[in-house]
Amino acid sequence: TDRATLIAKLPKAELHLHIEGSFEPELMMQIAERNGIQTAFKTLEEAKAAYAFSNLQEFLDIYYQGMAVLLHKQDFYDLTWAYLERAAADNVRHVEIFFDPQAHTERGVAFATVADGILEALEDGETKLGITSHVIMSFLRHLSEDDGFALLEESKPYHARFIGVGLDSSEIGHPPSKFARLFAKCRDLGFKLCLHAGEEGPPQYVQEALIDIGADRIDHGNRSMEDEGLLQVLRDTQTPLTNCPLSNLSLCVIDDLKQSPLKAQLEAGLLVTVNSDDPAYFGGYVNQNYQAIADALDLSNEQLIQLARNSFTAAFMSEADKARHL
Ligand code: ADE
Ligand code: ZN
Repeated sequence: TDRATLIAKLPKAELHLHIEGSFEPELMMQIAERNGIQTAFKTLEEAKAAYAFSNLQEFLDIYYQGMAVLLHKQDFYDLTWAYLERAAADNVRHVEIFFDPQAHTERGVAFATVADGILEALEDGETKLGITSHVIMSFLRHLSEDDGFALLEESKPYHARFIGVGLDSSEIGHPPSKFARLFAKCRDLGFKLCLHAGEEGPPQYVQEALIDIGADRIDHGNRSMEDEGLLQVLRDTQTPLTNCPLSNLSLCVIDDLKQSPLKAQLEAGLLVTVNSDDPAYFGGYVNQNYQAIADALDLSNEQLIQLARNSFTAAFMSEADKARHL
């Protein structure tokens, strides 16, 4: 089989996807109009032209601005549904999505409005598209640990609906250790812990996430490659790394996909997966990420199959559900 056909056919799980990062400018314009809000960009062309980033923060500024048109439960439903339809087209069978409640509650949108819209779409995704899902509630790391504790309290009625908690937004200057007490509490509550670490931040941040906080998954983790000790722990514990090739390229984490650590990670026996992160901003959904990285690193068919298998192995699914896909 040729590479594109294999990628299209492989059943996959997507484990690193910010639902607000799947907000396509077409839908953004549509929702802005029905909500009577002006978008920062007047045309699709203007929006897309603005999606040229030289680092994480430049992206985040645009990302938070874009999601500000989301006001009603239906808006969050439509956002999530659009992603699920796109995922189904890529033969994604299971998704574990992040959402950023603080980016909405800070604007005066109620937590329940956000969560209900997303959760209803995910239920429909299972019944209508056969895509199973989990939700990971993310804390914004540019905010304080106390803000995180406030979100944890506010979200209490929904805790049973979330498999885990995450840590995202501006990495440098906001190490995982800033949130040590919050994640200890989340672990006690039974949440899985997924922390963005080593995207732009140093290996020390991965160390804190993995060793001090005890992360169940490391999101990105690129800069783990600079620390042999970390690599040994990642290999021995088979802690998943959720790699996002087109994101890394768009945010200048790497200058060229050929610099991606993904193939080296695979060959070192790490449990690495391929994901789209914020596909509306980075130029591709999951299959496009598989295709681009396979082309750049000349991955074999066996390696592509391994990556798809890894996506289920690394998922927070029951062993029985994994067995259906592996
Ligand atoms: N929020 C959305 N995408 C992100 C990324 N790639 N890194 C950190 N925070 C994010
Ligand atoms: Zn991310």
